Amino acid sequence: MKVLGIETSCDETAAAIVDSDHNILANRVLSQLEEHEPYGGVVPEIAARSHMDHLDRLIREALEEARLGFEDLDGIAATAGPGLIGGVFVGVMTAKAIAAARKLPFLAVNHLEGHALTARLTEGEAAAFPYLLLLVSGGHCQLLAVEAVGCYSRLGGTIDDAVGEAFDKTAKMMGLPYPGGPLMEQIAKKGDPERFDLPRPMKGRPGCDFSFSGLKTAVRNKILELAGEDGAISNLTDQDKSDLAASFQAAVGDVLIDRCSHAMDLFQARYGRPGPLVVAGGVAANLALRDRLTALTDQRQTSLLAPPVKLCTDNGVMIAWAGLERLQLGLTDSLDFAPRPRWPL
Ligand code: KG4
Ligand code: ZN
Repeated sequence: MKVLGIETSCDETAAAIVDSDHNILANRVLSQLEEHEPYGGVVPEIAARSHMDHLDRLIREALEEARLGFEDLDGIAATAGPGLIGGVFVGVMTAKAIAAARKLPFLAVNHLEGHALTARLTEGEAAAFPYLLLLVSGGHCQLLAVEAVGCYSRLGGTIDDAVGEAFDKTAKMMGLPYPGGPLMEQIAKKGDPERFDLPRPMKGRPGCDFSFSGLKTAVRNKILELAGEDGAISNLTDQDKSDLAASFQAAVGDVLIDRCSHAMDLFQARYGRPGPLVVAGGVAANLALRDRLTALTDQRQTSLLAPPVKLCTDNGVMIAWAGLERLQLGLTDSLDFAPRPRWPL
């Protein structure tokens, strides 16, 4: 079985093809970063127009890469939400048009389900249901028990910012370009994680919820102290920035470990084992945080399953795979399906 997956919910235009033997037959991703960079964040209108300009070409390239025609496909999947609605419409309308013209099943995929199921493509049997999922991206921060395709039980989530958002906003305060997450990880390598004493919000509290706005504010206060009287970011040295990034990342790591540890207790009580723990979403690309999570899973005698870095940030493979899993279960969608800007798992 082969499925084409389309992703257009944020600032990546992506098309990919996967098969039921867990092969990635094509994976095309076009980042719009340069188009949004002057604005310091994603501009929805620019994103939607850019998806429209490039999606058809990317689909053609994906078919060429896989040496396939539309007639070889068994289904067309597209992110149908949550996300920036203009972009989601472009992907969904394109997928519906192909599905209608080629008489193929259409699969409306929840973007979060795409992230949630990617480990089943790359890790196979190790990611058999149920597993614990830490979903950490630019827009989401949740802990879920994944019981089956379409069956998610929420254990906790953020009460303010998502982790990726906290990385990006903190980076912006230090004058780093968008998206700051990957850059923060880079400069943190040269930094002292103990130089700044930052809070660990929610650490030690019962449950599995997160909060990052207090941490962000604490970093802002440190930046103001370092900037001095005229308040200019240029007064911060590269070492200051590296130390801030390292201290911030260490605080985020402590919070994630504490929250995941609580989630493992809940998971253990429900399913008789603490994991495995799957980490997904853009922030899962952070290798320093992955190392921390590996230490936790080792300690709890379970395993950490993390997709390869390039499948953590938004891509079409995850949508194709989630579509394929749904197709195998007969969970196809009508061409009347309306895109959903908000769509909790
Ligand atoms: O999953 P994703 O590509 O898009 C959303 O669905 O949000 O996640 C993007 C987010 C951004 O906030 C980005 O800064 C963050 O993931 N991110 C990282 C790293 N790579 C991407 N955050 C920390 N460290 C990284 N290496
Ligand atoms: Zn995402």
